Amino acid sequence: MNTNLSSSVPSQLETDCLVVVVLDRSEKDRGEKDKSAVTVESSDDAVREAAKDVISSAEVTGKTFETTLLHRPAGLKAKRLLLVGGGKARTFSAAELRKLAGAAVRTLKSKSIRSFAFVVPETAVPAGQGLRAIVEGAFVGNFDPGYYKSDRNEKDQKIDALTIVVHGDAHDAKALESAMQAGRIVAESQNFTRDLVNEPSNRMTPTMMAERAKKMAAEVGLNCETYGADKIKQLKMGAFWGVAQGSDEPPALIVLRYDPVGAADKIHLGLVGKAVTFDTGGISIKPADGMEKMKYDMAGGATMIGVMRAIALLKPKVKVTAVICAAENMPSGKAQKPGDVQIAMSGKSIEIINTDAEGRLVLADGLSYARQLGCTHLVDAATLTGAVVVALGYVNAGIFASDDQMYERFANASKQAGEKMWRLPLDDEYKENLKSNIADMVNAGSRWGGAIFAAMFLKEFAEDTPWIHLDIAGTAWMEEAKPWIAKGPSGIALRSLVEFVKGWES
Ligand code: BES
Ligand code: MN
Ligand code: ZN
Repeated sequence: MNTNLSSSVPSQLETDCLVVVVLDRSEKDRGEKDKSAVTVESSDDAVREAAKDVISSAEVTGKTFETTLLHRPAGLKAKRLLLVGGGKARTFSAAELRKLAGAAVRTLKSKSIRSFAFVVPETAVPAGQGLRAIVEGAFVGNFDPGYYKSDRNEKDQKIDALTIVVHGDAHDAKALESAMQAGRIVAESQNFTRDLVNEPSNRMTPTMMAERAKKMAAEVGLNCETYGADKIKQLKMGAFWGVAQGSDEPPALIVLRYDPVGAADKIHLGLVGKAVTFDTGGISIKPADGMEKMKYDMAGGATMIGVMRAIALLKPKVKVTAVICAAENMPSGKAQKPGDVQIAMSGKSIEIINTDAEGRLVLADGLSYARQLGCTHLVDAATLTGAVVVALGYVNAGIFASDDQMYERFANASKQAGEKMWRLPLDDEYKENLKSNIADMVNAGSRWGGAIFAAMFLKEFAEDTPWIHLDIAGTAWMEEAKPWIAKGPSGIALRSLVEFVKGWES
């Protein structure tokens, strides 16, 4: 999708469709009757005039995602005018605007419209922020997961060109241009991650994932090393190998390094990703119903690869290394079995109670390796537990932090990025559950507090390094389409992570 900036008066712009936000500015005070007041978020009188009749008819309420399409709007050079509702003005922010842009793309592309212009609301959000949110939302909305439909090309419905109109007071053109570029980089990286997650396991083996990472790294000028079983054994990654050993597909350890000149050497961020390209559960096999979804069990790793792409292009002055542990969790004659004991890279022994609790095993060694590489702060992302879905549903990702300051940074970043995350606890009392009769710890405990148990397990391997864990099991895959996003891989956490990394810039 081409993106370009325009400072034209909206009504004077020639386009297939002009998109303008409408907000509900009514207030319900002291039991008074609701005085509806829907406003068009542009100071261009011609645009307001064109929308006036349909608004006064009460067909337009400003409700979030409500769309109203007018043809040949009087006084406008645009062929169509699309009003998109943004909800209550009081709660409107860049996060809502991002979704509206996605909704506009999805509405228009389904009508075979290929290009449109989106007017940045003039007062509701700062221009640069609004512009960036629109670009991000539009790219996210343009993603179509139907890769292997044989009529994909004939039916290809995509927006080819987006114009973003920044009207109103004088703006710093250079700052706007760079906000647009940043939005584009982040959103294309998010879609790159979604591409990886969308692939089925026969087309995204650990080896193929490593190849994709290598190809991307070469394109953006990142250092990328990929290793197989030999290196994993040589590093004594017994937890990672224990998962990988059951599959005929070799595992891959993917290391991406970004080390810019001028970065402070006391900060070295480590991003660790779970990339189980298919999770059958192993010998503790999963039920058949819904098992096909376990192709997305590599979303954490795919997210970290996408984050590194964005970082390489945005070039913040901070050292970042990503460690992605890719393996397939399979039952076979070579597979690990319940009761087996594995020795992790850190030297700690693990009694395998359930071979389906494999994500924490590959991450344990990934965290140790990131520490060995000198990382001073760690973040991991993983589709780790069904229990986090029980706790938080499909709305919030689970976030765990061993360090309050680091948590604050991350919470601010995720707010900026418009991604919902909810903090869950890591009290010492939960440590009881890790106890094993035969080894230092077990890999799985009781059903209760399962997401916390998994996080407590990981904490043993982050040791004293400040660390954040993101459990994205409930949020990495959209169970159904939303107005702003298709059903399928969401790319959750990528924008927060990019924002978080940028926050450490020296
Ligand atoms: N990959 C799953 C977690 C998962 C569940 C991801 C649902 C996405 C949607 C993970 O490896 C797993 O199987 N976890 C088990 C752990 C249990 C055996 C202790 C779970 O959550 O059931
Ligand atoms: Mn599992
Ligand atoms: Zn898994």
